[in-house]
Amino acid sequence: MRVLILGGDGYLGWPTSMALAARGYDICAVDNYLRRNIARETDSEALMPSPHLPSRAELFHALHGGKIRVEIMDCTDYRRLEWLVRDFAPDAVVHYAEQPSAPYSMIGFVEARRTLVNNLEATFNIVWAILEHAPNCHLVKLGTMGEYGTPNIDIEEGWLDVEHNGRRHKFLYPRQGGSLYHTTKVLDTDLLWFYARTYGLRVTDLMQGPVYGLDTAEAAMDPRLAPNFHYDDIFGTVVNRFLVQAVTGVPLTVYGRGGQTRGYLNLKDTLQCIALALDNPVPAGQLRILNQFTEQFTVNQLAERVRAAGRVLGLDVRVQPIPNPRKEMEEHYYNARHSGLLELGLQPHPMTEQVLVEMLGRVARHKEVIDVRKLLPRVAWNKP
Ligand SMILES: NC(=O)c1ccc[n+]([C@@H]2O[C@H](COP(=O)([O-])OP(=O)(O)OC[C@H]3O[C@@H](n4cnc5c(N)ncnc54)[C@H](O)[C@@H]3O)[C@@H](O)[C@H]2O)c1
Repeated sequence: MRVLILGGDGYLGWPTSMALAARGYDICAVDNYLRRNIARETDSEALMPSPHLPSRAELFHALHGGKIRVEIMDCTDYRRLEWLVRDFAPDAVVHYAEQPSAPYSMIGFVEARRTLVNNLEATFNIVWAILEHAPNCHLVKLGTMGEYGTPNIDIEEGWLDVEHNGRRHKFLYPRQGGSLYHTTKVLDTDLLWFYARTYGLRVTDLMQGPVYGLDTAEAAMDPRLAPNFHYDDIFGTVVNRFLVQAVTGVPLTVYGRGGQTRGYLNLKDTLQCIALALDNPVPAGQLRILNQFTEQFTVNQLAERVRAAGRVLGLDVRVQPIPNPRKEMEEHYYNARHSGLLELGLQPHPMTEQVLVEMLGRVARHKEVIDVRKLLPRVAWNKP
């Protein structure tokens, strides 16, 4: 299979590129270093430095033998993207290439506009490049569970049967993103559904929860092949922040009451989900939506898990609720279906104490370069 990976330098894109190359697929990884640039601009650099994409691809080739073609280019540049799709002739595209930070998208006008334009244009361009130059190609697009928000009813897998005045119809499940970033994902899904039903695009839209972990079969070959690990308030997920706080003795900063429930998954499971989506393409004209997470728990429960894992390493982990910088429900009903990927064969790797202990150990090795000032929220959901 020939797979084009947009966002191939990213936390998920790089391990995906290696994992699929290791499967013997022809891989082309595309990136414009938007994340690295924003991280530098906002003082949010990753904990461990990672070589640029061509060097990582060379190293992977030297150690493993698998080949990853690299193209440093911006997916918002349609002429270059359509040239690449024509030249590489992919069977599938995995589209990760978006600005993924919710706090960044809420800083102000410039950051909001950059997020909106980048994310929608990248999606729009890959849709058109596929329609024009590779019409049978399967587009596997990363959405987010955050598209659904926290409704007071069960979250279905993408679609909802609605009965109204005695008649029934199936609609995209109602969505309400909690940040501008999440809203761009909602808009992406609408675009994908429009092009699937109108022009026969084949799409899998993966509604993914927060991913944690650094451990993959290929990344284990050399520390320079590890995915990026951000721990600051802009690019770091709550899991990464808690791990770093536990290691540095800073109390875990629970936002508000800590009852926010989300669905989480291990990086190893993201790789499995992508492979399962690629191995099971959808027919032309179909938008398949799969909820991509394996376990759901509240922020307070996550803090407790990190505290328990810290105890194993002799760390005194404390928890300190702080005012919530976001506009979100802090206690709410949450029950999201996630059977589609399990039915395709996903074998979950749960967040066990052992997994957290290993991650804490890994973070501890870089303790001296952690900048604890980056752990507190710098962005609030206030009117600019
Ligand atoms: N990591 C998670 O927990 C998580 C959860 C849900 C959804 N997602 C989604 O998965 C995708 C990947 O997330 P990630 O955590 O790997 O983020 P990331 O920022 O590490 O990776 C995204 C990559 O895309 C690149 N990129 C962005 N815009 C581009 C453009 N116009 N042209 C070329 N490259 C571009 C960035 O430079 C970056 O390397 C994103 O779409 C994100 O919204 C991630």
